Amino acid sequence: MSEKDTILEHLQRQGVSRRSFLKFCTLAASSMALPLSSISVIADVLATSARPKVIWLSAQECTGCSETLLRAYDQYPVEKLLLEMISLDYHNTLMAPSGLAAEKSRLDSIAGGGHVVVIDGSVPLKENGAWSVVGGRTILDVIEESVVGAALIIAVGNCAAYGGLPGAFPNPTDAHGIDDLITNLKKITTTAPLVNIPGCPPIPEVLTGVIVNFIISNYQAPAVDGLKRPLAYYGSLVHDNCSRLAHYKLGNFAKSFDDAGARQGFCLLELGCKGTVTHNACTTKKWNNNTSFPMLSGHGCLGCSEPNFWDRKGGFYKSL
Ligand code: SF4
Ligand code: F3S
Repeated sequence: MSEKDTILEHLQRQGVSRRSFLKFCTLAASSMALPLSSISVIADVLATSARPKVIWLSAQECTGCSETLLRAYDQYPVEKLLLEMISLDYHNTLMAPSGLAAEKSRLDSIAGGGHVVVIDGSVPLKENGAWSVVGGRTILDVIEESVVGAALIIAVGNCAAYGGLPGAFPNPTDAHGIDDLITNLKKITTTAPLVNIPGCPPIPEVLTGVIVNFIISNYQAPAVDGLKRPLAYYGSLVHDNCSRLAHYKLGNFAKSFDDAGARQGFCLLELGCKGTVTHNACTTKKWNNNTSFPMLSGHGCLGCSEPNFWDRKGGFYKSL
């Protein structure tokens, strides 16, 4: 399943303090809505587990999903710490080796099985997949090969989950999300569970939480909704915890983005907010080191964690 050393041994070699490690466990527990009593359990399991092998494959994407994970904050290096807890054996943007050496890393990971495959971007089928090619092979080929023996597949971002922007009308490359390729089109054969973490981009803490949960639950996939999204993060509408909800209930709606109502925190429904139909954790986890979320900053939700949000009739600024 993993490298020989435990996560704690690896962290100690990297100079990560016990204090930082426990802080990470605390944030992980809070991110997964677990009770405080679970922190010591998480710490014990992470300390004694081996690092899971992760292969990160990029298809038709903008690298925003990698960026969201890699955002490391001076006071809050959670994502940095996550990268130490996994053995990231292959990542187009981050890996040191190139060419055949890079491919060898990926094949070595697959050889033992039990790895995690993270995919960002949609997969094109037009022209036999020629619109997304790595090392002379289509990304579909590379994905098919990489998921053999995998313990978990994570589709990160709206593109990998549902096709995203490349799959929006008129979908010039015949782009598809991973679930579509596995379940409907039967282009990828696998027995590994698939977890979708949609968003444009997704919240970094959600990816962190899913991977930590995978480690501490003895390599089990988390509970998911009908769109294969982890319930711990996508179980509620962003509307349910929005800072403008009280005004929504009172019927106070902003008429333009800069009117007095908008500045007082009136609801943005009439300006196109899709929060009432969008499942995500933006209003509870928040963005940028727990600072804000779109509606708090004055813009409506675009619905970026839902299928086909680019193609929604009426566009981003038409009221539901
Ligand atoms: Fe709901 Fe959007 Fe209004 Fe917030 S701004 S209360 S998410 S409709
Ligand atoms: Fe996306 Fe809406 Fe959150 S646009 S970032 S799901 S508030």
